[in-house]
Amino acid sequence: MKKIAVFASGSGSNAENIANYFAATKYAEVTFIVANNPNAYVLERAKKLGIESMTVTKAEFMEADTIIEELRKRKIDFIVLAGFLLLVPQKFINAYPGRIVNIHPALLPKHGGKGMYGDRVHQAVVAAGDKESGITIHLIDGDYDKGTTFFQATCPVLPTDTPNDVATKVHALEYEHFPRVIEEILHTLD
Ligand code: GAR
Repeated sequence: MKKIAVFASGSGSNAENIANYFAATKYAEVTFIVANNPNAYVLERAKKLGIESMTVTKAEFMEADTIIEELRKRKIDFIVLAGFLLLVPQKFINAYPGRIVNIHPALLPKHGGKGMYGDRVHQAVVAAGDKESGITIHLIDGDYDKGTTFFQATCPVLPTDTPNDVATKVHALEYEHFPRVIEEILHTLD
């Protein structure tokens, strides 16, 4: 059974969806949830799901040794960033090469980079008059929203759509595809 750690900064609806998906498989399970904000709702979700969780400060995360040790202690095989907003330091990437995946709520390379997360992304999509948006699931390298893309899915953006409407469509794509794509990536590591 592969062990997955999910990192999140806010609500954690993807973290919960991923945990529930793998709870119904014998292949992998989410055994650890990490937040960088002690008030993140994802920590409540972790409690409800009965999954161990931990909060890291930005300084601890950037220094990386502590979190790497916590992951190793728990024999974590794979790391999923699901709405996690800190840049992953190179030391962490080196500790889990090819084993950290991120989801971005737009079609990278559009609307990515530092400061582009959550609703800001959907506001940028509407402001640009884009006719479609979607999700990008990619490996982490040393920069925001870069690294090999595994998967993209699209949704239409209507001229009347608000950023909130786009967010709803993008979240639906995330819930539908992210767990399955994680499972596919895990199989390539066997
Ligand atoms: C998700 O839409 C995810 O794609 C996005 O944050 C949201 C978190 O929602 N991530 C980024 O913007 C990263 N640049 P959730 O906490 O309900 O899963």
